[in-house]
Amino acid sequence: MAATGMKITVSKNGPYLVRGQVPLSRQAIGANSEGDSIDWVEIETIVPETPAYKLCRCGHSANKPFCDGTHVRIGFVGDETARRQPYAALAQEIDGPTLALTDAQSLCAFARFCDRDGQVWNTVSQATTAPERAAFVRQVGQCPSGRLVAWDYQTRAPVEPDLPPSIAIVEDPQQGVAGPIWVRGGIPIESADGTPYEVRNRVTLCRCGQSKNKPFCDGTHAAIGFQDR
Ligand code: FES
Repeated sequence: MAATGMKITVSKNGPYLVRGQVPLSRQAIGANSEGDSIDWVEIETIVPETPAYKLCRCGHSANKPFCDGTHVRIGFVGDETARRQPYAALAQEIDGPTLALTDAQSLCAFARFCDRDGQVWNTVSQATTAPERAAFVRQVGQCPSGRLVAWDYQTRAPVEPDLPPSIAIVEDPQQGVAGPIWVRGGIPIESADGTPYEVRNRVTLCRCGQSKNKPFCDGTHAAIGFQDR
């Protein structure tokens, strides 16, 4: 499912190098009156000045989401500390009657779509009718990081949302913070040492510079009140 011609390379102690004319937008986590995350809301399309572009990884560019070279001045250390294991090795599975849920907690980007309507860890065991299944699959698919994946219990196949290859800069108005870089649609991501990460439909990359699980977001942006404009 890798996106043809597109690639993201993590540079050592520097930005993400994005090649292949990857569409870029800004997306907000939309919430209801109770504060529950309910939908993704596109704020704007961002038009990079060049087909290949560099996205800030240190959190300190004055031209976010793009890199302006500040990482050099501040001596950013961006060591990639994430475990080099496929999702399946990181995830735990909860089985329901018709669907299963897998959960790799280390990938959590704190978008909170999982919490509404009784939390997906509970509702997986209640999803039997077609509307219940559809609601569960949609809710799990809203998780930007791919921490959570819904599976068809019979076919053992993941039930993924259809996401065109693209990048979204995440905003979290409910928390009043800026969030990660949401990589969608199977764009390959390569480590600074040349090792490819597992190609996935949903991935969130840290752009606040403070994740303990680089290059992936671990939700720290919320704890530090990361702002991007
Ligand atoms: S953007 Fe989420 S931890 Fe850095």
